[in-house]
Amino acid sequence: MKNVKGIVLAGGAGSRLYPLTFGTSKQLLPVYDKPMIYYPIASLLYAGIKEILIISSPKDLPRYKDLLNNGSHLGVNIEYAEQQAPNGIAEAFLIGDKFISEDNVCLILGDNIFHGNKFEIYLKDAFKNLNKGFSTIFGYKVSNPEEFGVIETDNNGEILNIIEKPSHTESNLIVSGMYFYTNDVVEIAKTLKPSNRNELEISDINNIYLKLNNLKLIRLS
Ligand code: TTP
Repeated sequence: MKNVKGIVLAGGAGSRLYPLTFGTSKQLLPVYDKPMIYYPIASLLYAGIKEILIISSPKDLPRYKDLLNNGSHLGVNIEYAEQQAPNGIAEAFLIGDKFISEDNVCLILGDNIFHGNKFEIYLKDAFKNLNKGFSTIFGYKVSNPEEFGVIETDNNGEILNIIEKPSHTESNLIVSGMYFYTNDVVEIAKTLKPSNRNELEISDINNIYLKLNNLKLIRLS
């Protein structure tokens, strides 16, 4: 059984929240009584992941170091790495190459908050999948799928395709911002080319796993 490391991706432009995010990083903004990034870190802790890499912009990374230090107060080890520009979610695996090393990895976006009484079961299922050599994405139904990676399924609910921000789709099931990948994700990320919007797309990684028959879908309630 391979160890599972955690990456929190907390860079990005945050342009939808301007002017709030001119002077600060989105994932430092308060959600109720805590900085937003506490929630994805809590998700990793809940999954029992004890080695965590936080990735953010050169400008914001020092703020995260001030906030979380080396993680020893949480019983975990936190490391830090810069993303020079918002070049896409999949770039996390190039930046995190050495950190991931021989292990499997859970990537969680710094602005994603998972909460619910079945969360623990879903996490256990994702670990079971990893131990059988499968990667896992978490699907969630939304009313505005065009803003996400959309999962198209057949009549049996099997994934047919994942389309990044389609202009039109019949499916309202989207890929949420937590992904469990087998160690080969680093090598897969190295093969990606930037998309039309000049990003390394996480949907491209998911479609590669899909073609390899190595992708499992857990539907969040
Ligand atoms: P997005 O929703 O793509 O972008 P955003 O939320 O920063 O900003 P905007 O309002 O301008 O669309 O990103 C989702 C999460 O992933 C968010 O937490 C930022 C993070 N991210 C990075 O850290 N680096 C990247 O290159 C990208 C694309 C996203």
